[in-house]
Amino acid sequence: MSETDCSILGIHSSPFKNGNTAYLLQHSLEEATKMKGVSAESVAIAGLSIADCRHCNWCMRGQTSDTLCSIEDDASPILKKIRDCDLLVLASPVYFSRLSGTMACLIDRTRCFTFGKEGHLALKDKVGIALAVGWCRNTGMETTLASLYGAFLVHEMWTLSCHPAGALYGVGAVAGQRNEDLSYKENKLGVKEDREALRNARLLIRKAVQTARVIKSSSAPLP
Ligand SMILES: Cc1cc2nc3c(=O)[nH]c(=O)nc-3n(C[C@H](O)[C@H](O)[C@H](O)COP(=O)(O)O)c2cc1C
Repeated sequence: MSETDCSILGIHSSPFKNGNTAYLLQHSLEEATKMKGVSAESVAIAGLSIADCRHCNWCMRGQTSDTLCSIEDDASPILKKIRDCDLLVLASPVYFSRLSGTMACLIDRTRCFTFGKEGHLALKDKVGIALAVGWCRNTGMETTLASLYGAFLVHEMWTLSCHPAGALYGVGAVAGQRNEDLSYKENKLGVKEDREALRNARLLIRKAVQTARVIKSSSAPLP
């Protein structure tokens, strides 16, 4: 086995570099790197300059392996990292029951991999899992996860559920932990107290690494 046989790219879109979403992602990546041969990199995208996809279709005509998109901005190196990883972990805070705007912008820019001249279906058969952190448990967690999973499906990536963990669309965690009287705790990093979500994140990423390895080592062409 080569030294690294599964490279993970984790991307989170919270404006808080040490906030709940960053914590959940880090927790997940740390679990994965306990497995031999796994490398992981984490990128925080909030505050970066990531323009909207202009739908100019330049990627269909002019794309090269070095220039993936007509727009050169902070998304450019991230798009290359996405192309080159084996396992992509997208982590977003829940904003109005869906993924954050920054994450949506970055995902839109990955269109250069659906129709790109060089990178046509470049993400096909990579594995993708989603993490989401909301303030409450039932205020948009699953719709956020589904909006992230939709991106994986468009790219013909493999998405996973983990039934024993109850993580069917990925892992949703709660940041707004409450006291017995329903008042909120002072702790702004409540995700640390969501033990179930942290466990689910560990289970799901382990399964994702195993799946990425099976897919990579498959000698049969995948449909
Ligand atoms: C614009 C905005 C919209 C939000 N919408 C929701 C929501 O629909 N449901 C929810 O549970 N939390 C919502 N929240 C709260 C965040 O999801 C929550 O605070 C989460 O912990 C943020 O993660 P972070 O600490 O990594 O930034 C919203 C926060 C913001 C700023």
